[in-house]
Amino acid sequence: TLHLGVLKQRTFAMLKPDVVEKMGHIMKVIIQNGFKITKLKMVQMKRDHALEFYAEHKGKPFLPFLVEYMTSGPVIAMELLADNGVAKWRELLGPTDSEQARKDAPGSIRALFGKDKSLNAAHGSDSCASAERELNIFFPMSPIAQYESPRSTATF
Ligand code: TYD
Ligand code: MG
Repeated sequence: TLHLGVLKQRTFAMLKPDVVEKMGHIMKVIIQNGFKITKLKMVQMKRDHALEFYAEHKGKPFLPFLVEYMTSGPVIAMELLADNGVAKWRELLGPTDSEQARKDAPGSIRALFGKDKSLNAAHGSDSCASAERELNIFFPMSPIAQYESPRSTATF
């Protein structure tokens, strides 16, 4: 029988340049934790894109290094779908500082794949509003791609 699942929540995830070579391993962890990867692209950001993406951090002392890091090579941008997806992805990511993550959340993505509080492997939206803003930056609607990711998944 055709059965439509419960409504899912989408969020934005990004693998940072220095872990792109480990994308297979990291995506396996993401899928094994119950997320569906519903959009995905590899892109190299320019300075202006990184500044727009991190607009909330304007004026912070770490922003120049963050922009340098995020533009140092391609990133993997993804839309992830899961029940309570925004909070669930932040939880799987772990704390911002990878060294802290290894103490407090040893199985998390940042604990496993990050280095410190700057080189922390991956990004996750901090709210539904952030997720919508960030998804629109990386996956804008265009005349040739007028589609919506499924919020529920058909099971046969
Ligand atoms: P933030 O939004 O505070 O963390 P999160 O990614 O967990 O939402 O900061 C954005 C990024 O900026 C963070 O992933 C890594 C970098 N950063 C630093 O390099 N140093 C810092 O002290 C902080 C707070 C963040
Ligand atoms: Mg943040």
